[in-house]
Amino acid sequence: MEKSGAVPRWRFLLLVAAAFWVCILYFRMSLVLTGVAVEHTVSYAPGYDNRRGGDDADPCRGRYVYMHELPPRFNAEILRGCGSTDGRWPDMCEQLSNAGLGQPLGDEIGAGQTKGDYVGLTAAGGWYATHQFALDAIFHGRMRRHRCLTNDSSKAAAVFVPFYAGFDFVRHHWGYDDATRDAASRDLARWLVRRPEWRRAGGRDHFLVAGRTAWDFRRDTNLNSNWGTNLLLLEATKNMTVLVVESSAPGHGNDAAVPYPTYFHPRAAADVLDWQNRIRNADRPWLMSFVGAPRPGDPRSIRSQIIAQCGAASSACQQLGCAFGASQCHTPAAIMRLFESSVFCLQPPGDSYTRRSAFDAMVAGCVPVFFHPASAYLQYTWHLPRDHARYSVYIPEDDVRAGTVSIEETLKRIPPAAVRRMQEEVVRLVPRLVYADPRYTMETVKDAFDVAVDAVVDKVAETRTGESEGGEVRWSSWLHKIWSN
Ligand SMILES: *[C@@H]1O[C@H](CO)[C@@H](O)[C@H](O)[C@H]1NC(C)=O
Ligand SMILES: *[C@@H]1O[C@H](CO)[C@@H](O)[C@H](O)[C@H]1NC(C)=O
Repeated sequence: MEKSGAVPRWRFLLLVAAAFWVCILYFRMSLVLTGVAVEHTVSYAPGYDNRRGGDDADPCRGRYVYMHELPPRFNAEILRGCGSTDGRWPDMCEQLSNAGLGQPLGDEIGAGQTKGDYVGLTAAGGWYATHQFALDAIFHGRMRRHRCLTNDSSKAAAVFVPFYAGFDFVRHHWGYDDATRDAASRDLARWLVRRPEWRRAGGRDHFLVAGRTAWDFRRDTNLNSNWGTNLLLLEATKNMTVLVVESSAPGHGNDAAVPYPTYFHPRAAADVLDWQNRIRNADRPWLMSFVGAPRPGDPRSIRSQIIAQCGAASSACQQLGCAFGASQCHTPAAIMRLFESSVFCLQPPGDSYTRRSAFDAMVAGCVPVFFHPASAYLQYTWHLPRDHARYSVYIPEDDVRAGTVSIEETLKRIPPAAVRRMQEEVVRLVPRLVYADPRYTMETVKDAFDVAVDAVVDKVAETRTGESEGGEVRWSSWLHKIWSN
């Protein structure tokens, strides 16, 4: 996350560490209790259609999603207010045009570059200047064309709530009191719990998208008790699954992380295949690159060490100047061009642990280098392989801070065959890391939206049968692996 305000990082560490110990304790306990599932088991009221039989040929059987028809004050009207954010998101209207994708990219030609540099990076190929926090609208758009959407809520395995929580945050965050900030969330909770769909499972099968970090929606548990709304802490939303771009307590709260939107929004499977071919064959003269600004006010930040290691100290590293006022690092074509020319892309934490840039890098076929497990491994467990060594390099940030590791030397020591395998894996992952253009239907390729919806449906089903314990135990051993690193 860039530019979105102070998030207390040590608090995150505490939370994750606490979660880890809870996991370990829980793991021990569940061994003692011979793994009997007790928690999270939901008994569904009569009337819940759980039929498994029927048409075997129906690929949506057991996976239908019902979408609530919310009053427009929860979505369309929030969008219509895009012009009046008191200067806090000045061109929100422009950024949310084209079904939330933003302005189409043209052939941006910079000094010293030829037209050939940018061929393919145009709206015709599915490229838009998408805002990192635009997921509310994109996800809603994708849901409207979801192949397993049903109007019969009794047939649905999950219920989608198209509330624009992230845009609602922007509307009322700066200069408003807590009651105003929370008004829409509370209004939504009151509306939801009165629906017959809610009573079926107390909302356990409901989900919504809040396309920002979880820190923006749990004010009362933030160190800065003046930051955000309390959406995630309401009784009703605690029962729901809330998809965010960064979780505050991965695996342990009601929020789950999904990829940030990137600039690429394919319309058809062929768009994805063409792009994969292009990045697979791309010429990558740079060993590593970095796009980002330093964080001079944050003594814990390793950005200045990264910039130093990438700068004068290395002829193998290239960076885009992102000092205050420089616009280059917000120019999509410049960013993608650099990532497409690099073998490794450095992804140190920014204001919070995750970065949209990590997804831009992978979409460019660049192997991401992470410095903290919470930047990706603990977050995007639905979308990224569990074995993070398959697609990324991990260099602990403590080593960078202490100056005991050379990033360049570390990366140069990786055998070419291993680099090639990681690159292949990153290219393979591309479809599941991008959100398709909501105005089209990609029949044969699963994008980030499809992966997220599948995972939510599975999560709801596990909750129903009490199988979620297995997941928690697997999770704990994985957390243990990372934290003992
Ligand atoms: C649901 O109902 C609406 C309006 O009645 C209709 O436009 C839409 O196509 C229906 N969707 C499905 C998936 O049946
Ligand atoms: C949340 O779910 C629990 C059951 O797990 C239920 O007792 C409670 O009433 C639900 N909360 C709301 C607000 O419906």
